[in-house]
Amino acid sequence: MFPPLNPPIRQWTGYRIWIIGASSGIGAAVAKQLADKGARLAISGRRENELRQLARTINNTMVMPLDITDFQAVQKTATDLEQAWGGIDLVLVAAGIFQDVAVSHFSPAGLPAVKQNLNIQLTGFYHVLAAVLPGLIKQQSGGLAVVSSVAGYNGLPHAMSYAPSKAALNNLCEGLYLELHPLGLAIYRICPGFVDTPMTAGSHFPMPALITANQAAKTIVAGLERGDFEIHFPKHFTRFLKILQWLPRRLYFLLMKTATRRLDS
Ligand SMILES: NC(=O)c1ccc[n+]([C@@H]2O[C@H](COP(=O)([O-])OP(=O)(O)OC[C@H]3O[C@@H](n4cnc5c(N)ncnc54)[C@H](OP(=O)(O)O)[C@@H]3O)[C@@H](O)[C@H]2O)c1
Repeated sequence: MFPPLNPPIRQWTGYRIWIIGASSGIGAAVAKQLADKGARLAISGRRENELRQLARTINNTMVMPLDITDFQAVQKTATDLEQAWGGIDLVLVAAGIFQDVAVSHFSPAGLPAVKQNLNIQLTGFYHVLAAVLPGLIKQQSGGLAVVSSVAGYNGLPHAMSYAPSKAALNNLCEGLYLELHPLGLAIYRICPGFVDTPMTAGSHFPMPALITANQAAKTIVAGLERGDFEIHFPKHFTRFLKILQWLPRRLYFLLMKTATRRLDS
């Protein structure tokens, strides 16, 4: 009915894509699917062995290990890629950790975990922006995608740094879109529900509507191809969470307390 917010990607062959957070889970699954479609890839993350293992199974892939919290490393990799490829068409940031404490157990001992979450998910994304935006703006084409989360839609218990970092990313993507779309750049906000990956393995909380990393990757690639701004899934779960955003907080708190009572016991 309405035109897509980003230009649809109709052809992946030769597309130059840098995925940060590709050593496992959603990032690795997206890397596999895009390589199968003929894209040229650079894959990053801290675990070089996992990246090399993935690169052995897919074509046309450069392994560029880095820690997203290290700006010099992010900038050097961006410069190396721009030189090797003559530009970048898409940067997909999937780097993230889930390491959180309940507020009721929060103390100075919990600060390092909070800072680490914010450093990886939020400051890390700013590192990528600072490193790649000048090149993307100069070439007047290309896109930036970040794997945020539905955890950023509403306040959540037991996620005192993870959820706020994703809320900030969700908000940041809208600001980026407003400024960068007129300059010819695409911005994609990716909000998965629960996905079965190393991050969620062994979780002690219920995970309704859980999907596999391959299913998530397939939906992400389809959303990029359509030119969606927000790629959220699975829809029957994420639409329900979006409705919760509109509820009066009194009602939302009541529903969340009931739904998450088990976490407090
Ligand atoms: N699984 C879910 O239910 C779910 C739901 C919503 C959103 N998400 C988001 O999806 C993204 C991917 O998570 P996943 O579920 O696929 O979990 P995962 O398998 O643990 O993947 C996380 C990725 O982030 C990378 N990473 C972590 N810290 C990094 C750092 N300092 N520098 C560079 N890379 C780093 C990891 O690589 P290294 O360890 O090698 O550095 C890994 O490749 C995350 O942003 C997560 O918040 C996941």
